[in-house]
Amino acid sequence: MNCKMQLTKYRFSFNFDHEDGKFEEIYHFLLNFLSLDLKIGAYYTNKGKEVMGVRDEGLEKLSDMIYDYCGLVFIDRLDTLRDKLGKRLIELELTAWEYGDFLMHNSPEWDVLVELLTINESYFYREENQLNECCSIVLPQLKEINKYRPIRIWSAACSTGEEPYTLSMLIHESGQILPGNVEIMATDINKKVLEKAKKGWYKDGSLAFRRIPKHLLENYFTEEEGGYQIKPYIQKMVTFRHLNLLDDKKIDEEIGKVDIILCRNVLIYFDQLMINKVIESLYRVLTPGGFLFLGHAESIKDSGLGLKKVNTHRTFYYRKETTQHEEVQNTRS
Ligand SMILES: C[S@@+](CC[C@H](N)C(=O)[O-])C[C@H]1O[C@@H](n2cnc3c(N)ncnc32)[C@H](O)[C@@H]1O
Repeated sequence: MNCKMQLTKYRFSFNFDHEDGKFEEIYHFLLNFLSLDLKIGAYYTNKGKEVMGVRDEGLEKLSDMIYDYCGLVFIDRLDTLRDKLGKRLIELELTAWEYGDFLMHNSPEWDVLVELLTINESYFYREENQLNECCSIVLPQLKEINKYRPIRIWSAACSTGEEPYTLSMLIHESGQILPGNVEIMATDINKKVLEKAKKGWYKDGSLAFRRIPKHLLENYFTEEEGGYQIKPYIQKMVTFRHLNLLDDKKIDEEIGKVDIILCRNVLIYFDQLMINKVIESLYRVLTPGGFLFLGHAESIKDSGLGLKKVNTHRTFYYRKETTQHEEVQNTRS
């Protein structure tokens, strides 16, 4: 069978023949032997079916479907999409076009696809100035205003749980608020990362620990079985749920009103249209006077909403403006 390969670095393509089923071997041989960045131009099953071509309309259709489903943008990165999907298409023996139809009739396949597409990098104490500001300044300030109800925090796009668990640890550390006075909800679209988050076990030497201060590791984890288990009282403060940030209905029903939102390092994967859509949802569920933390590389451009940027000497965040009436209501609650 004829197989097209592309040497992306030098924009060079060549063809070669291989026997049925040998494609992977040849690919890996070339990769290892030449140590070059080779990209497969077309994917074939071992029965010889071409599941994805070099320029494949099926890929464009899939990229549109993915965008509508979860906001991730691949239209200008079809090569990346091809790399991420190749193995799955070979497994299912479907072309990219057929896979689009398959997704329409097999909703659980979206979970598989999301696992292949999302980037779930996270670590404890990430962008720590924000987390410290959130737990030592913002949270006590909110508690002062809302004496008789718990403060609700939402870690949107929490990945494997490092962000909400760090909040839980820092709340314990600061000692300013009783942990029972805070509820932390953590959500993500990827069910697999949520399973890992719920377990609260992280491998020794894992990148999750790259920034964690020694005392947090010593105080809030138990060393066991080649890794570290987060302590139950830290774990208990966090509730994990599956949620797509584009699902307005579920956000309103399952998240309800929240005082603090952390939505960090996920908007970078969306375009402006989707960023606006997500920000509107976050704004809707934020209580008046509530706080929104985005990643360091993320910001809100002229949303037209009442979100005021607050710059502190180490970090920044957004605060939902309040009307006079709401301020009076707040001081009474
Ligand atoms: C890079 S991680 C960021 C994790 C954490 N917030 C942090 O800053 O360390 C991005 C996460 O966003 C999630 N994500 C991507 N699209 C999403 C969507 N439409 N709804 C909810 N989560 C999404 C991914 O599954 C991934 O776990």
